[in-house]
Order: sequence, then C-alpha cells, then structure tokens
Amino acid sequence: MDSRAVGVFDSGVGGLTVLHECLVTLPHENFVYLGDHARLPYGPRPLAQVRGFAREIGAFLERLDVKLIVVACNTATSAGIADLQHELSVRVVGVIAPEAHAAVQATRNRRIGLLATEATVEAGRYAELVRALDAGAELVPVACPRLVPLIESDAPFEELVDAVREYAAPLKQANVDTAILGCTHYPLIRPVLQRVFGRDVTLVFSAEETAREVAKTLARKGIENDAAREGSYRFLTTGDPAAFRAQGRRFLQLPIAEVEHVTLAALAETAA
Ligand code: DGL
Repeated sequence: MDSRAVGVFDSGVGGLTVLHECLVTLPHENFVYLGDHARLPYGPRPLAQVRGFAREIGAFLERLDVKLIVVACNTATSAGIADLQHELSVRVVGVIAPEAHAAVQATRNRRIGLLATEATVEAGRYAELVRALDAGAELVPVACPRLVPLIESDAPFEELVDAVREYAAPLKQANVDTAILGCTHYPLIRPVLQRVFGRDVTLVFSAEETAREVAKTLARKGIENDAAREGSYRFLTTGDPAAFRAQGRRFLQLPIAEVEHVTLAALAETAA
C-alpha cells in the first residue's frame, strides 16, 4: 500500500479532463494537480520551450514526493516525456501512448486521424507510436490552432462548429474510421465532434485511455492506495487561483475548493 499522491500536470485546466477520469477510475487515490496557467497555451510554442517547462514541473512534483507523474497535456507529452522519463526516478505516464494504442486497436480500415495542437502535430510522436504498433496503419494529422481558444472562450457556438467541420474535413476525405482527439480540451466538445464525424468513426480521447494506463501502472508496481479509503485532491497553479477555480469546475465536473499559487521562480529553482 502506498498513500503518496499521484502528480498530474498540464498547461492549464485541460488536464482536468484527465484528472476527472482518474478520480472516477481511482476514487481511493490522492492527487495533486498543477496547472501552468502563467505560460498557457503550450500548443503554439516551440517544442524545446515546452520541454523546458515540462522538466521544471516534473522536478517540482518529484520534490513533492509523488509516486507517479501523469503528463496530462498532449503538447507537453509530445515535447518532454522522453526527457522526464530519463531524468526522474519516479514513473512518468503521458497521454499519447495510451491513445495511440487504443486507436490501433479500434481501427478496422487502418486509417487513423489525429486532431491536436500545432506542437503536437509537429512533434510527430503519434505517427511514431502508431507505426511502431502497426507499420501498415496510416495516420492523418491535422493541427487545430483555433480549437483551444474557442473552447476556452464564450465565442458563439456556430464558430466552434464551423472550426470543427473545417478540421474534420481532411480526415473525412481520407476516410479514417478512427480519430484520435489529441488534446486535453477536446472531451469538452465531444458531442460536436461525434456529430460532425458521425457514429461510424470511433473517437479516442486521452482522458479515458490515460486513466486506464495509470490504474494498470499502479497495480503492476503494487503502489496502490488502500482501496477502502476515499482519496483527496489538491490544486496548484502558476496563474490566478480564483480564475482556475472558476474555469476548472467546467473541466473537472467536480467541486474545486482551494487552489494554491506556485511561482515560476519556485518551479525553476527545483529544476536547477
Ligand atoms: N493542454 C494542451 C494539450 O493537450 C492544450 C492547451 C495548450 O495549448 O496549452 O495539448
């Protein structure tokens, strides 16, 4: 039995969709979630810069003595998972491998689409992983720079639907039967995505696949918490705690009581 918390991080609130699934799948575990709001968004940034952010946060969470780190951000996973796994002694789980695996298992015609941020598409990790699992499968990636800002804002719904239609069009044209939603914000618009793609296309979301991976990893390593307990969760942000609390509820779909502020200097110090 191991009562230490699982550390989860993202550029902002998007990773709360992953935390939500983890809380549902593992109600007896403790979690600490860090949102790097001061540097959101990661998606349009150079991969090397995002890698630096991920390394700082990974080192910070390790110092909090977490038993596992979940990189609940597709962009940060794309940019930094390999470095984190090399540098940290704690086990690190990202959101990309579980999704790539689920997509390869789901596809019948071996044509898989990917919607994600610019950095995630540029990094090419989904393509590598899909190829490693099935060299004959084809991945069709589409960068969607407008989706995160639209999901976060109060923009008219029609604008969001138009953007989804535009990004989905090349995937439909390529006749994919499975689409990877490679960004932690996308579960929030699941009904729009499913309606635009139709029932025949299987949608793969990182939140569900990652929660399953976290549960399996804790079980395999024998570091689960006592199953009879109710777990706790704690929130940290590099940005404004009140804004996190207000926006975070929509992503977590559970109450967020207290949010602590962490300075960027504190993150940088730990990594140094
Ligand atoms: N969390 C990011 C991801 O999953 C999306 C938000 C951002 O661009 O920072 O890729």
